[in-house]
Amino acid sequence: MAIRNVVQVGDDVLRQKCKPVEVFDEKLHLLLEDMKDTVKQEQGAGLAAPQVGLLHRLAVVDVEEGYFEFINPVIIQQKGEQTGWEGCLSVKGKSGIVSRPMKVTLSYQDRFGEKHILKAKGFFARAICHELDHLDGVLYIDKASHIEKN
Ligand code: CO
Repeated sequence: MAIRNVVQVGDDVLRQKCKPVEVFDEKLHLLLEDMKDTVKQEQGAGLAAPQVGLLHRLAVVDVEEGYFEFINPVIIQQKGEQTGWEGCLSVKGKSGIVSRPMKVTLSYQDRFGEKHILKAKGFFARAICHELDHLDGVLYIDKASHIEKN
């Protein structure tokens, strides 16, 4: 287990589309353990694979509701809207106001390849949307109506 270096905005790896995860092996588990250590150390709400330099469709989310690993996640339903502050471990020292769905239903696989459906709302839903954007090369600063330095 180790803390990985978090890639910062300007690096091309943050702007690419990630590829689906097909192999659920020990190597994947080690990556997830490192991402868990890293997001906890950096006190982030989430971390996506491109942020540690890897173009895999996976992200971790660490919020009030708990710690989650989402492999090949897809939003299958969304409802409502919320507007609020957001930050990103790859955009240090800034926050921005972003509109997101209030509720999302997510389909994803766990580290063993098992499929799950999860419903999230509020900040949890915001964190999921933010991390999923990373998997398509999108950063919150692309969507923010306003950005401030912290
Ligand atoms: Co981010």
